[in-house]
Formats: sequence, structure tokens, C-alpha cells
Amino acid sequence: MARKFVLLLFSVVIGFLYTINVHGLDNGLALTPPMGWLAWERFRCNIDCKNNPDNCISQKLFTDMADHLAKDGYRDVGYNYINVDDCWMAKKRNKNGRLYADKERFPKGIKYLAEYMHKRGLKLGIYGDFGTKTCGGYPGSEFHLQTDAETFANWKVDSLKLDGCNSNTSDYKKGYPAMGHYLNKTGRPILYSCSWPAYLNPSKVNYTIIAKACNLWRNYGDIQDSWDSILSIVDFYGNNNKVLSAAQGPGHWNDPDQLIVGDFSLSYEQSKSQFALWSIFGAPLYMSNDLRKIPTWAKDILQNREVIAVNQDKLGLMGKRIVYKKNNYEVWMKNLSDVTTAVVLFNRNVQGTPQVLSVDYSMVS
Ligand SMILES: *[C@@H]1O[C@H](CO)[C@@H](O)[C@H](O)[C@H]1NC(C)=O
Ligand SMILES: *[C@@H]1O[C@H](CO)[C@@H](O)[C@H](O)[C@H]1NC(C)=O
Ligand SMILES: *[C@@H]1O[C@H](CO)[C@@H](O)[C@H](O)[C@H]1NC(C)=O
Ligand SMILES: *[C@@H]1O[C@H](CO)[C@@H](O)[C@H](O)[C@H]1NC(C)=O
Repeated sequence: MARKFVLLLFSVVIGFLYTINVHGLDNGLALTPPMGWLAWERFRCNIDCKNNPDNCISQKLFTDMADHLAKDGYRDVGYNYINVDDCWMAKKRNKNGRLYADKERFPKGIKYLAEYMHKRGLKLGIYGDFGTKTCGGYPGSEFHLQTDAETFANWKVDSLKLDGCNSNTSDYKKGYPAMGHYLNKTGRPILYSCSWPAYLNPSKVNYTIIAKACNLWRNYGDIQDSWDSILSIVDFYGNNNKVLSAAQGPGHWNDPDQLIVGDFSLSYEQSKSQFALWSIFGAPLYMSNDLRKIPTWAKDILQNREVIAVNQDKLGLMGKRIVYKKNNYEVWMKNLSDVTTAVVLFNRNVQGTPQVLSVDYSMVS
């Protein structure tokens, strides 16, 4: 086992074949990590369409992003969800107790947006909150779970992210599965993303239960547009590698939060690193960036078919951190379904000079 190989970021080498058990929320969705675009990290709760019409949470933002997914090649490499996040709603439910979109910012409503996506071969994701209010102070779904599930299904929404603000975390164990039950009862397959473990003490999370109830779950704080934020997520994923990888598989995924490639903070090398790591994690690939203004180099990273193929591998394994902080580099590996192993060599040094990294095959087995 003396053969060594040296790589810049990732590579696929011969590995081993084996199988895993598949179980989880029985809606047949997300058999590989979902891909698409999500508004939150880049556009937050900007509702000031008067002064900032291009950057506010509005119908136009989502149709613009859909147009770019469809015409700039993203859809064709797999990005097909356009996900709305917080701050889309009117401040109160209507007189029938139903949620509806803010009428000025979404003049044609959410049903129109869903149709807009479907016409372009895309899917629409919506956002709600398990508590009495969303994190941004809009109406929450507590005591309205069934009504809201029906509303989303009537609008022909394809995905729901259910946040956990303004609620009692001890209610999650019943509440999150209950929403999954009501989504199922609508008869419409709706991908279900739960923020459930992100609000709990990591040592108290039982991923067996969560993986049965949700297609995705956020398990760490919100990503920010910074390299430090990425490093803290990567460390969380490495330090909790065993527990997290045991929870993950087709239909049920750990979600380290959005890709910030193409935003303000990351350099070219840092951008490649985030994409390679999210790929080997088997993470959902939800970009949060401005596709109207993204530099070509960032687009090329996000559309790298080989890195996407590692992410989309049908075994759905999460990569393992094999080497940690040796000369400040890390090695991550992931077994793939076609008898190969993907490798990420991650150089965390900021000394300003490249370093040669090498990995021994004996590390794999
Ligand atoms: C609802 O759950 C049942 C089994 O639990 C499954 O067969 C069915 O496909 C699910 N339907 C939807 C729409 O998710
Ligand atoms: C949360 O729920 C638990 C169990 O029902 C209860 O003991 C606790 O007081 C609640 N906490 C708050 C802040 O309401
Ligand atoms: C997690 O929940 C499952 C199903 O209820 C249970 O069998 C298991 O013992 C729990 N795990 C831990 C670590 O509590
Ligand atoms: C890949 O599979 C082999 C054989 O089952 C196993 O020994 C090895 O630890 C796995 N590697 C990773 C990175 O999971």
C-alpha cells in the first residue's frame, strides 16, 4: 500500500463496493441530495421593494432566479428547486385562517410562482415556521399545521422548509413528524426540510427519529457570507462525523446550509473548497447568490459535473474526515456506488503558499 497520490482538491480513485440500508420519510423524494437555489443567505428579509427593487423578497426575485436557472445551464446539471425563505407572507392570516403572500411584493401569489417554475421544468419550495411566528415575525404554523400543509399543496408547492423559531423545543418531537404526516395526507409529494436539530443541543439530538420524519435537516447555525463561517461548519461536520454520517442516506440528508459561491466573501480557491466539501458531504446543493450578476468563474465551479456527480452518488454516504489538522490540512473520503472513492484534500493553511499534500491508500481501508 505504498502507492501515493497527490491532488489539488478532489479526485476519484478505485475503492470498494458495498450497500447501505434505505429508510426514511416515505415520500419517494430526495433520493439524491436536492439541488437548487434558496433566497435566505443572500437576500435575507429585505422587504424594501421601493428603495431596493432588485434585492427585495418579491415575485420578481424568484422569477428572475428561475429564468437564470433555466437559461444559464444550472437546471441542466441538476439545480431545479427555487426555494422561498422567510418574509414572503402577509403579516396576518386571512379571515379563513390561511396564510397568503404579501400582496404588493407577490401580486400574483404563490400558486402563480409554482406554475411559473413547473413550466420551466423547475420546482418551488416554500417556507414556514413550527412556532407561533417565523424568525422574521410572520405568522407561524403552530396550531395550523394541517391547514398550512393543505394550503401549500393547493398551491402545488414542491418543498417546505419548516423553521423552529418562537416555539418550545420540547414540542418538536411531536410537531415536526405531525407536519410530515399532514403533508403526506395532502397526497402531494412535498420535500420536507426541518430545522429541528439546529435548535437543539447537539448531544441531545436523536437522528434516528429525525431521519424518519424529514428529508433534510439543518443541524448547525445559519451560514454567513464568510470563510470563518464555512470553517466552523466544516469543523462541526468533522467533529460529529460519526453521528451525522450514520443518519444520512437516500431520502434523508444532513444540511450544512447554503452554498455562498458567487457572493461577496470567498476567493476562487475558497469557493472551490466549499463546493468540494459540500459535494463530499452529500449535502443539499442550494445556492444562495445573485445569478443575475455571478462571475463566470463562480458559475463554472457550481456547474462542475464531476464534483456534482460525487455529491449525487446514489449510495448517499457522507464523506469521512480521515485526516484532521495535520500541517493544517484535512483529508475527506467518500465511497461511491461505482466502486470508486472520492477524495478531498483540503488545505487550511493561510500562509500564502501552496503545499504538496499526499495521501496513502492505507488510510482508506
Ligand atoms: C404517504 O405515506 C405512504 C406510506 O407511509 C406512502 O406510501 C405515500 O407515498 C406517501 N404519500 C405522499 C404523497 O407522500
Ligand atoms: C416547554 O415545554 C415543557 C414540556 O411541556 C415545559 O415543561 C416547559 O415549561 C416549556 N417551556 C416554555 C419556555 O414554555
Ligand atoms: C433514538 O430513538 C430511537 C427510536 O425511538 C431509539 O430506539 C433509540 O434508542 C434512540 N437513541 C438514543 C441515543 O437515544
Ligand atoms: C469504504 O469502504 C471500505 C470497505 O467497506 C471501508 O473499509 C472504508 O472504511 C470505507 N471508507 C470510507 C471513507 O468510508
